[in-house]
Amino acid sequence: MIIINGKKVAAEIREELKKKINNLKLEGKTVPGLVAILVGDNPASDSYVRGKSKACEEISMITKTERLSSDISEKDLLELIQKYNSDKIFNGILVQLPLPKHISEGKVIETILPAKDVDGFHPISVGNLVIGNDTFLPCTPAGIQELLVKYNIPIKGKHVVVVGRSNIVGKPISNILLQKKENANAIVTICHSAAKDISYFSKQADILIAAIGQPNFVKREMVKDGVVVIDVGINRLKDETHPKGYRIVGDVDFDEVSKKASFITPVPGGVGPMTIAMLLKNTFKAYLIQN
Ligand code: GUN
Repeated sequence: MIIINGKKVAAEIREELKKKINNLKLEGKTVPGLVAILVGDNPASDSYVRGKSKACEEISMITKTERLSSDISEKDLLELIQKYNSDKIFNGILVQLPLPKHISEGKVIETILPAKDVDGFHPISVGNLVIGNDTFLPCTPAGIQELLVKYNIPIKGKHVVVVGRSNIVGKPISNILLQKKENANAIVTICHSAAKDISYFSKQADILIAAIGQPNFVKREMVKDGVVVIDVGINRLKDETHPKGYRIVGDVDFDEVSKKASFITPVPGGVGPMTIAMLLKNTFKAYLIQN
């Protein structure tokens, strides 16, 4: 059994980008910029956004975080996005989700210029992904594909079972791995909360992608021997023995399932760090498109 080291792969990607940005600086060119917009004070969102801005700084990318009060109006938020759409410094715009209930996520995402849509959430980006055109791939799914490729895990013709149908992970990873392309071409099954028996599906997986949002949901008896397990879950479990008062666990019962798996991602240190690395990569791509 091999534990997939997302932390290491992500560090390598950041290092490559750092070199590219250094070269731009040596050539006297501008460098890529990313603006993150955070509405409200959700602790998980705050932690993600801080992680993103730290990663940008480490590779000398320009970064700015707009921290907005949870009672900002939808109109004011849309106007701020429009301001960044026409800004020359920031090539990528990221609005951290979820948003407060009075703001339409759909409207917000559709206001972001597709050329700056480094999250790959705009309907134009999603449509291009489904059709198989070159586009910005959503960061977590792109990171999953990158991990499979880096570990030489065959994808073509394999049965990938995705548990979860979110717009951020389940739907896009299914579409990415389904494409008749290199590093894809899988047989993909998507299952979700309406399935009477998730086990029926998960047991058939050569590659199981768990994006459910429930701690330790996938148990030993739910997978076959030799399965490749990608755990996308980031769940906070109360734990007074930890300095922060909680610990992070995935959607997969790692101790049990790792005994049957051929490859498995840990939580933390698996998919999580890849999301930020792919965001930086998308921002670099946006910079190249815009320049
Ligand atoms: N919320 C959870 N994951 C993400 C992500 O990848 N991007 C954004 N913008 N919000 C998120």
